[in-house]
Amino acid sequence: MANRIVLNETSYFGIGAIAMIPQEAASRNFTKAFVVTDKDLLKFNVTQKVTTILKQANIPFEIYDNVKPNPTIENVLTGVKAFAVSQADFILAVGGGSSIDTSKAIGIVTNNPEFADVKSLEGVAATKNKSVPIVAVPTTAGTAAEVTINYVITDEVSVKKMVCVDPKDIPVLSIIDPEMMASMPRGLTAATGMDALTHAIEGYITKGAWVMTDMFELKGIELIAKYLPAAVFEPDNLQAREGMGIAQYIAGMGFSNVGLGIVHSMAHSLGAVYDTPHGVANALLLPYVMEYNAPATGEKYREIARNMGVANVDSMNEAEYRRAAVDAVISLSKTIGIPQKLREFGAKEEDLPKLAQMAYNDVCTPGNPRDTNIEDILGIYRQAF
Ligand SMILES: NC(=O)c1ccc[n+]([C@@H]2O[C@H](COP(=O)([O-])OP(=O)(O)OC[C@H]3O[C@@H](n4cnc5c(N)ncnc54)[C@H](O)[C@@H]3O)[C@@H](O)[C@H]2O)c1
Ligand SMILES: [Fe+2]
Repeated sequence: MANRIVLNETSYFGIGAIAMIPQEAASRNFTKAFVVTDKDLLKFNVTQKVTTILKQANIPFEIYDNVKPNPTIENVLTGVKAFAVSQADFILAVGGGSSIDTSKAIGIVTNNPEFADVKSLEGVAATKNKSVPIVAVPTTAGTAAEVTINYVITDEVSVKKMVCVDPKDIPVLSIIDPEMMASMPRGLTAATGMDALTHAIEGYITKGAWVMTDMFELKGIELIAKYLPAAVFEPDNLQAREGMGIAQYIAGMGFSNVGLGIVHSMAHSLGAVYDTPHGVANALLLPYVMEYNAPATGEKYREIARNMGVANVDSMNEAEYRRAAVDAVISLSKTIGIPQKLREFGAKEEDLPKLAQMAYNDVCTPGNPRDTNIEDILGIYRQAF
């Protein structure tokens, strides 16, 4: 079997990196930007950091802000229409995973109109044309949507988060600028950072993991353990913001190419039913699923523990290093104030069987290192409840 690696074309990292947008746009002959963002980012003057640069460079643009967290098919469809009217020739996504994912769906549907129902894009769709070119400027440090081949759209009618996997959606240019992330409040920094840690851990233990993606995931884990607490507790610490921006991107380089596991499957169900923020759902479920998956992970938890900063892992036996890896994740999660039980954000016990069924059917489930079933997933939800 051949292993495939797909990464985005060009990326810039560092304070002030958004200043590179005009020259990169010019080198690609882009003439007008369709800026996909959300209303909160406009309210908090985050998107304006980028549009100011467009204005200074005389690049015309139009703003599309109909993006909600856990974006919907409606967000995509009105975006496709607005893009067509705008006469823009590239999409400039400024936001978290929700804005970048919506951009990917708009770009794919625009150039592959036979998928205009959006639903048919779930899983691996046979699109023929590349997306409208996307420039991605993440404002959270978690999803790595700027370097992944995935986007996640909620089907509100079927109450389902659809994971769409398509290398044709990958941004041509990504700008990871810590100043775009500095305004994140504490809870959002914590949750999105734990999303990144979940990507790194699930991507490291997933069935398809191999030496190249392991390299990314282990470095991602190390950098997240190093920088996430400071990013949470010292919001203006741009070194920590930059560290997290790089860490989540590195984790994305890996997981995008090998898949995830049932932390994500279970988080997607919570997102679809309760609109739970993606990072919060992952963070809460991660230790429970790690315990469940441990028997199917060989020596990998030793390396997770090592990269989380646990000392003396080489002298530990299997049970000890597995426990140490899970405890290190719990400790980080508690330190940064992640809720520890599902009921804390409104999940209902009677919904758990339905959630387990949905999670089992999720696109991420086959990648889980341990073969699973609906009863086991329900058991994990019950533990986390
Ligand atoms: N494409 C992928 O590979 C991938 C991977 C993981 C998750 N996702 C998806 O991404 C979505 C979650 O994205 P997210 O966690 O980045 O959050 P988000 O984009 O949903 O944003 C959450 C909230 O944070 C606000 N926000 C974002 N940046 C901010 C900033 N700098 N300052 C102040 N407020 C800010 C937004 O306005 C919004 O209200 C989910 O739908 C999830 O399923 C996609
Ligand atoms: Fe995620």
